[in-house]
Amino acid sequence: QKLVQRQTSEFRLIIVSNRQPYIHDLVDGEPQYVVPSGGLTAALDPLMQACGGTWIAYGGGKGDKYIVDRDSRVMVPPDNPSYSLRLVWLTEEEEQGYYYGFSNEALWPLCHNAYTEPIFDLRDWQTYQAVNRKFADLVLDEVGDSPAIVLTQDYHLALLPQYLRQSSAPIITGQFWHIPWPHSEIFRICPWQAELMEGLLGNNLLGFHIGDHCSNFMDAASRTLPVRVDTEYNRIDYQGETTLVRPFPISIDFEDICHLSESVEVEEEMERIKEEWGFSDQLIGLGIDRVDYTKGIPHRFRAIGRFFEKYPEYMGKVVFVQAGVLSRSDIEAYQLLGGQIDRLVGEINSRFGYGDWQPIVYKPDDLPSVTLMALRRLSRFCIVSSLHDGMNLVAKEYVASRFDDDGVLILSPFAGAALELTQSLIVNPYATEEMADAIRDAVTMPSEERRRRMAHMRGIVRENNIYKWAARLLVELMQCARETNFRRSL
Ligand code: G6P
Repeated sequence: QKLVQRQTSEFRLIIVSNRQPYIHDLVDGEPQYVVPSGGLTAALDPLMQACGGTWIAYGGGKGDKYIVDRDSRVMVPPDNPSYSLRLVWLTEEEEQGYYYGFSNEALWPLCHNAYTEPIFDLRDWQTYQAVNRKFADLVLDEVGDSPAIVLTQDYHLALLPQYLRQSSAPIITGQFWHIPWPHSEIFRICPWQAELMEGLLGNNLLGFHIGDHCSNFMDAASRTLPVRVDTEYNRIDYQGETTLVRPFPISIDFEDICHLSESVEVEEEMERIKEEWGFSDQLIGLGIDRVDYTKGIPHRFRAIGRFFEKYPEYMGKVVFVQAGVLSRSDIEAYQLLGGQIDRLVGEINSRFGYGDWQPIVYKPDDLPSVTLMALRRLSRFCIVSSLHDGMNLVAKEYVASRFDDDGVLILSPFAGAALELTQSLIVNPYATEEMADAIRDAVTMPSEERRRRMAHMRGIVRENNIYKWAARLLVELMQCARETNFRRSL
C-alpha cells in the first residue's frame, strides 16, 4: 500500500472506466448508493481509497444527477470520502450503441471463447467512437496542465488512449484490459480491428492478466498494423511510439475481505441462513456469478445433475446455492441465458428433489455482501466454471474469506486464476463427468487435505494482493515515463 502511495505522490492518478465505483440511486425519492458487482470496482476502489485522485466514469445511476451537478465532482466513498468522482453523461442512444451495443455485443463475445457470435453493427461502432471521444474530453479537462497518470480500464474505452495521445497533455497512459485478449485468428473477424489496435497502441503501457493474452495481443498487432514487435521485451513500436505489453494478474484486498469474514455480523448471518433456509446438516456447494454466458452456469448445473445421478447417496445431503447478479439484461443473449438457467434448475430440482430438499437453490437477486460472505463461510466447496475469464475474482474472494483454512475450490482452467490457485481442483467445465467427480471429491476430501490446499492458496492471494498488482503497474508506468517522450512533453 505504501509503495502505491509513493508512486502516486509525484503524479495525480486518474482512473477512467465505464462503470463507476459508487452508483447513486434513488430509493423512494431518496438518494442512496450501490456498489456495482464485478471485478473492476472490487479491485480498484481500495487502490483509490489508499492513494486518492480522480475516477472518471459513466454516470448511469438514477440518483447521480441529484448528487453530482453536471460537470462537477463528488467525493467518494460516501461514508469515507477519499477520492473524487467525475461523471460522463450519456444519452440513452449513446448508452445503447456504446455500452450494450459495441462493448457488450461485439467486443465482449469477441474476446471470450464462449461461442456467442459477436454482432458488429456500424451505428454501434460509430457511437462507441463518439463516446470514447466524450470520455477523452473530460479526461483532458481534468488533467489541465498538471502531470498525471491516466489509467484506463477495460474494453469499453479502447480508443481513448489514442485520442489522449493526439493532445499535448502531460500524461502517461496505461490501460488494463480486464478480459481475455483473443487469438489473432478470432480478433481478425472484427471489421474495425485496425482502428481498435491503433486506439490501444496509444498507451505507453498495456496490461493483461496473463502472459497468453499478452502474446495473443502482440501477435494480433503484428497481423493488423505495420508495427515492430519485440517479443523478448514485450514491446510494440508503431509510428515512432512504444507500447509495453505486460501481464499483471489482478487481485483483491485480501486483508480486508479476511477481516470482514471474521465479523460478528457474518456469524449472525450464517446462523440466520442455516435456520431460515433450512440448511442444518447439509453440505453446501456455492456459486457466485454475474449471470453471464461466459461463466459456465448451465455447465455447472449439468454437472450437479450428473453428480446426483451418479452418486445418489448424496441426495438430501448436499445442496448447491447459486447466487446470481443480473446485468446487461437488455441484451438478447443474456435473456436467453436467463431462460436456459431457469429451465435447467427446474428440471434438476424436479428430477432429484423430494420433500423440503431441493438440490439447487437459485437466488438471482443480488444478495447483500454480508449474505455472500456468510455463504462462502458455510460452504464445503465453491465452483467457478468459467468458459473463459480474464482472472475471476470470485475464486480469490472465496479463498480470502476462508480464514478457517477450510473449503474446496473447484476451478476452471480457462480462468486466469487457475495459474495461481493451483491447489484448487482444476476441472474443464465442458467435461460434465469430470466436474461431477470433482464435486464428489470436494465433499469427501479429508479435512487435513482441505486445510493444506486452502492454506497454500491463501498464502498466494495474501502475497499477490491488489496493492501489489497496483504497485507493479504503477512502477512500470513510471519506468515508461522515464523511457518515453514524457519528459519532452513537460
Ligand atoms: C467484467 C468487466 C468489467 C465490468 C463487469 C460488470 O468484470 O471486465 O468492466 O464492469 O464485468 O459488467 P457490467 O456490464 O455490469 O459493468
